[in-house]
Amino acid sequence: MTKPLLSVQAISRKFGSLVAVNKVSFDVEEGAITSLIGPNGAGKSTVFNLLTGYVPLSSGRIEFRGERIDGLATQRIATLGIARAFQIARPFRGLSVRDNVKVGALFGRNGHRDVDETVDDALRLTGLQRLADSQAAGLSVGHLRKLELARAVAARPTLLLADEPLAGLVPTESEEILESFRALVARGTTVLLVEHDMVSVMKVSKRVVVVEAGEVIAEGTPAEVVSDPRVIEAYLGHEEIAR
Ligand SMILES: Nc1ncnc2c1ncn2[C@@H]1O[C@H](COP(=O)(O)OP(=O)(O)O)[C@@H](O)[C@H]1O
Ligand SMILES: [Mg+2]
Repeated sequence: MTKPLLSVQAISRKFGSLVAVNKVSFDVEEGAITSLIGPNGAGKSTVFNLLTGYVPLSSGRIEFRGERIDGLATQRIATLGIARAFQIARPFRGLSVRDNVKVGALFGRNGHRDVDETVDDALRLTGLQRLADSQAAGLSVGHLRKLELARAVAARPTLLLADEPLAGLVPTESEEILESFRALVARGTTVLLVEHDMVSVMKVSKRVVVVEAGEVIAEGTPAEVVSDPRVIEAYLGHEEIAR
C-alpha cells in the first residue's frame, strides 16, 4: 500500500474528566472517500477539531503527507492543504454566494492566483452558479450546505473534511452533495466525511472508520463494517439503525 495522505496515530482529547477521543488511529488513503461514522456524541467532530488544530491534542500524533501537523496553528494547517466544511454553516449573511465563496478562495492555498476562476469552479462543482448573486441570508438549508462546501472547495484543498454534510437534507439534495464529492475525488481531491447515518455514505466510501464513545470499534470497507457485530450493536444500542 502507498503511504496514506493522512495518518492519525493514537490521538486523544480529554475535556475535564470526559475522554471525548480515546487513542483513535486511522489512515486516510489519497484519492478516495473515507468516512468516519458513529452515533451522536461519539467524538467525530472533536476528531475534526483535532485534525484542523481548533482543539489541541491531549496526546497522539497526526501526520499529513508524512509531516507532523499536530501542534500547528489552524491557518497553517489550512495552508498545507486541509480544508473543512463545518456542520453548521456560518456564511457572511450580507454577502452574495459568490463573495462568500471568494472568501474561501482567499483563505486557501492559492493566495490571489486565479481567484475568479477558482470561485466559478467551486460554484459549478456544487451546483450554485444560478444562485451566485443571491444574498447568503436567504438561502435554504440545502443551499447553505452547498455554500459551505463550495467555500471549502475554493480553498483548493488536498484533503477536504466535511462534517455531516447531509444532515437535514432531503434525498435529492443529499444525492447532489454526494455527487459533488464524487466529482472532487475524480479530480484528485481526497475526502474525509463525518456522518452519523451510515447508510448514506456507504455508497461513496472506500473505507469506513466507526467510532463509538471516543474509540474506534471497527474499520474496513463498507461491506466489512456493516456486518461487524460491534457496529450493529453500537447502532442498535443508540436506536439509530440505518434510516
Ligand atoms: N469543547 C468541548 N468542551 C467540553 N466537551 C466537549 C467539547 N467538544 C465536545 N465535547 C464533548 O465530547 C463528546 C464528543 O462530542 P463530538 O465530538 O461533538 O461528538 P459527535 O460529533 O460524534 O456527535 C461529547 O460528549 C461532547 O459533549
Ligand atoms: Mg458532530
